[in-house]
This record gives sequence, C-alpha cells and structure tokens, in this order.
Amino acid sequence: MQEKILVLDFGGQYNQLIARRVRDCNVYCEILPYNTDIEKIKKFSPRGIIFTGGPNSVYDETSPHCSKEIFELGIPILGICYGCQIMAYSLGGVVTSAIDSSSSEYGKTITSYDTSDILFKGLPKSGVSWMSHRDFISQVPNGFCITATTDSCPVAAMSCEEKKLYAVQFHPEVNHTEHGKDMLKAFLFDICQCKGEWKMESFIDTTVADIKEKVKDKGVVLGLSGGVDSSVAAALISKAIGKQLTCVFVDQGLMRKDEGDFVEQTFTKLFDMNFVRINCQKEFLSKLKGISEPEAKRKIIGEEFYKVFWNKIRENYGSGYFAQGTIYPDRIESGKGDAAKIKTHHNQVGVPEDIHFEDIIEPLKDLFKDEVREVGEKLGLPHELVWRQPFPGPGLGVRVIGEITEERVKILQEADAILRDEMKKCGYEENLSQFFAVLPGVKTVGVMGDARTYDELIAIRAVVTDDFMTADWAKIPYEILGRISNRIINEVDHVNRVVYDITSKPPGTVEWE
Ligand code: XMP
Repeated sequence: MQEKILVLDFGGQYNQLIARRVRDCNVYCEILPYNTDIEKIKKFSPRGIIFTGGPNSVYDETSPHCSKEIFELGIPILGICYGCQIMAYSLGGVVTSAIDSSSSEYGKTITSYDTSDILFKGLPKSGVSWMSHRDFISQVPNGFCITATTDSCPVAAMSCEEKKLYAVQFHPEVNHTEHGKDMLKAFLFDICQCKGEWKMESFIDTTVADIKEKVKDKGVVLGLSGGVDSSVAAALISKAIGKQLTCVFVDQGLMRKDEGDFVEQTFTKLFDMNFVRINCQKEFLSKLKGISEPEAKRKIIGEEFYKVFWNKIRENYGSGYFAQGTIYPDRIESGKGDAAKIKTHHNQVGVPEDIHFEDIIEPLKDLFKDEVREVGEKLGLPHELVWRQPFPGPGLGVRVIGEITEERVKILQEADAILRDEMKKCGYEENLSQFFAVLPGVKTVGVMGDARTYDELIAIRAVVTDDFMTADWAKIPYEILGRISNRIINEVDHVNRVVYDITSKPPGTVEWE
C-alpha cells in the first residue's frame, strides 16, 4: 500500500504549499479539513499527519479544534504555527495571547535549535525561520521538551519523542525558513519512516490500471476543451482504454487562430480514441447577436456550450462513464479550514439529471497543476499544449469587447496570432504569465498612404503573476512592442492603431471583460 501523509487544514494560507513540499519529497499526501472524522483518518492510514497554520487564536469561540483522539493514534504528528498551538493547548500546555506583549513575531526571525532533536538533527544551531504569530506557547504540555527558541518566543518548537509529536511555531514550508525543507524531510523520512517512492511514472501506471479495471468494456466520454487539464486527462484515459474513449470537443468559434485544428490534429494523430468535433460558430454567433453586456455574453456562451455538449452526449454517449479533468486545486476551497469542501468550478460540471452514467472518472483529481503538466509531458502531449497559458472559458468572447461578430472575431484572431508569433520568435514569452490581444471596439482616425482611415484599435495585454489573484503589467521592451504594432497594423485589415495596457491587477483584472 502506498505511503501517505495527511495534511489537516486549519485554514492557513500555506496549506497547499505544505502539500507541495511533501510531494516534492516523493511522498503522496492529501489535505483534509481539521474536523475530519477520526474513523476516516484511520481508514486513510497515513504514515504521518501535519497540522497546518491558521488565522485564529485557540481561544476564539469559532477557532478550529480537532478531536484529542488524534494524538492517541500512534501516528507521528507535526504541528505548524496554529497547528503547534492547538497541539499544545489540546494536551494541557498554555497558549498566551501576545497582543500587548513583545512575543508576537512576523517575518524572518533568528531561531536557536536543539540539534539533538530528531527534527533538527544535523542543522546549524541557529538560523532564520519565518514566523507569523500573535499568540505563543508559554508552557509546553507534560512530557514535551522545548526544542527551539527565539529572543521573544520561549517555545519556537517542542517535541514529545515518546508519542512522536512534534511542533514548530514557525513555517518550515516557506522558503524564508533556512533548512525548512530539511526539517520536513526529517519528519517524513526519519520520524514517519517514509521511503519517498511516489513518482509520476508510478502514478501513470497505477492510474491506467485503475481505469482499465473500473471501465472494463464500457465506454467513457470526456469533454475536451483543449486546455491543459482536459487534454492530459484525455491522454491518460486513451492510454488505458484507447477507442473506448470518446472526446467531445465543442468548437464555438471563439478560440485562438487555428487552435481548433491544432487540438483535433493532436488528438486524432497522436492518441487512440474517438474524437468528435462539433463546429458551432454560427449558432453561437446568432445567439450573441446584438448582445454587448459582458455578463450577458458570458452567460449565453456558457449556457449554449453546455446545451450543445449535453445534447451530443444525450444523443450518442449517455451511458458508461463520464470523465473530466478536475485537478486538486479545483477541489480545495482554501483559507477556511475547510479544505475538502468542493466548490463548483468550471472544470467540474454537473451532469444533467436525465443522463445516467455509471460513475464519474477524474484521473487527475489528486494532482497539482505542475504535476498535471509533468504527466502530460510523459504521455507525449505537445509542449505547446502542456505549457499553454490560461484561456478563459468564454474564449475570445470576452476579448472582443461589445458585440461579437464573425468579422470582429477574425480581426482579433489575426492580431493575436501575430502577437504570439512575435513573442515566440524573440523568446520573450518565457517571461510572461499570460499575454493576448483585445479588440476594444473603439475606432480611431489614422493616415495610411495619403488617405485618412477610421478603423479598429487593438490593445495588447501582458501580465506577470504567480497566482492570477494579483498581477503586474509586464515591462515588455519597446522594440518588441514596436515590432508587434507594426506587423498588426500592416497585416491585419481594419486595424490602424495598437496600444499597450499598463494596468496592474488590482485595480484592473487580467481580462477586459
Ligand atoms: P481576471 O480577468 O479575473 O482573470 O483577472 C484571472 C485569470 O482567469 C482567467 N479567466 C477565466 N478562466 N473562465 C476561465 O476558465 C473564465 O470565465 C475566465 N475569466 C478569466 C483569465 O484569463 C486569467 O488567467
């Protein structure tokens, strides 16, 4: 049985990062909410448990508490920040509020370690750790030793070796903590005795075997968008069951230039499956005629998409299994100590009540985005598909500002293709998180040859971001912008001006609509 670590979520902002760090050590782990039933935890059978941080004080009325039984399971536990405090509090230690005292700490803090403790073995006797706490532990529970201190925090770490309980007030998962990764490794390998055998190849082999076993001779249908997640899911399922898989690709005519053909070629040439492409630009455009309000456009595109998709499924594939490219972050509602609550995400669609599948298959549901990409590469998907930028569900529909017509979509597709081509040629795309062209629907006066023009404007948007929650506008060199502008104006009919969007998020959003 595969070794697993359980991360219990108390609502901290670094929960996913903890899970990533564990998986980087080739140990499989999952995040579950702090109040997960003890029987479920036993059944999960983890080698070790990590309590995350969280924004609360253990004394808040609404603060998350876990069952004390968890400390009696004989499973090693590592408490981090709030997780450290809740361990101390639950086992009879004293947590003190530092509102009026100097014991609260934020940021890089010099910390002294007891290097005879298994968690800190082999590390320097002192180093920088990343602290973010108001309350502090003033007295450890019976049976615990203090294993790290700072100038203002009497208990920066504590342990009870007999019960295999360990806790740190700081955040070892954050890069600012020197040797934080070594501490996590000590927990995983020395304390929990993990071997670190979780590899992508073994993930692929086990998943393929599981899908075969589950599906037997039935059919599987998957909605393919051409995005990373559904593409990797399609490749994986194809490896398991070949032609028993049908991928339905709805091309609403709002994709980037030639993108629909690229998706079709990839999946018909490189993979064994039935590929069904529904070309429905005309239908979409007729529904969108005369509509320019952004939310109304989004709603129509979304509704029409699902209508077309489910009608096709209903007609031809309404039995067997339904597959989708849900990935781990889609299932996590982070920051609320309630990690396992499933939110309705665009990747997770509700199946209409009149269609009855045997079950839903989500082969990537436990993977993070970069792990999904790794699987995609190992399965031989083209680099371009595996590393593609995010693309909004409504496609170019939210980049053609105002009414969407065939001509306006075409103008935007051409301009966007030039932008991508230039970025690729000069290699600058590596520096950008996302970039695209927008057709704002503003006409301006220009002069071409000796004649007056009155034509469309193209805006270029390019951002740099880690998480797309906030983003900086990209400082693209002027020469590159100049080349892009020149080519767009010369090569795209009906465009006589190009501007560059220098708005960060906030106050702007990445997309214009
Ligand atoms: P905003 O515009 O909200 O975009 O700053 C943040 C990121 O989300 C993408 N985006 C979407 N993705 N469906 C999606 O799947 C949508 O409706 C949608 N709207 C925006 C956007 O491209 C950016 O990466």
